[in-house]
Amino acid sequence: MSGFNVSNDPLDFLRGCSVGFDLKSGLSEKVDTGKRYLSQMKGIFADEAAYDALLAKGDTLVYEFHGMPVPEKEGDLAFGCSILYPGKVGDEYFITKGHFHTILDTAEVYYCLGGSGYMLLENEAGDYSAHELAPGQAVYVPKGYAHRSVNTSATEKLVTFFVFRADAGHDYGTIEQKGYRKLILESDGKPVIADNPKWRL
Ligand SMILES: [Fe+2]
Repeated sequence: MSGFNVSNDPLDFLRGCSVGFDLKSGLSEKVDTGKRYLSQMKGIFADEAAYDALLAKGDTLVYEFHGMPVPEKEGDLAFGCSILYPGKVGDEYFITKGHFHTILDTAEVYYCLGGSGYMLLENEAGDYSAHELAPGQAVYVPKGYAHRSVNTSATEKLVTFFVFRADAGHDYGTIEQKGYRKLILESDGKPVIADNPKWRL
């Protein structure tokens, strides 16, 4: 057995380790997820009245994600799954909060394991694009772009696996304050890109 790591060390980021992620659920037996409930997303969705009405019905889980305890050092890579549940606030699909990286010059890869939706990108100059997420599809998030997942399915979770440099950090504040310039809404049963009426410079 020499050469095989037969120890049961769950997570050894210095010597190497393997971590399982369920292809359907995205969940891992080795690492728990952080969870974002609707009550934690006040101001993120465009339709505030619809948000309040939905929250009054219950504090639903919107998404969860792994915060892998990788050393946050130059050269390390953080990875894990993001699991975004189906739902809408008014006409707006369920989304992740969206973030820039604190080290702005940081790219990231998302590989879709299940579900359907988009990765919405936007930089500080206003350039934006939406990239389809479907099983087997990888999206490259370039340096300098905020990124947010959008689940356009009415019934399925959107499960993606992500990898980025572990020391990049997350800047959620910029999006919380300004919002995105663009939204993905449902119109006549289909996703469309629309201007965000709440966006401000
Ligand atoms: Fe990121």
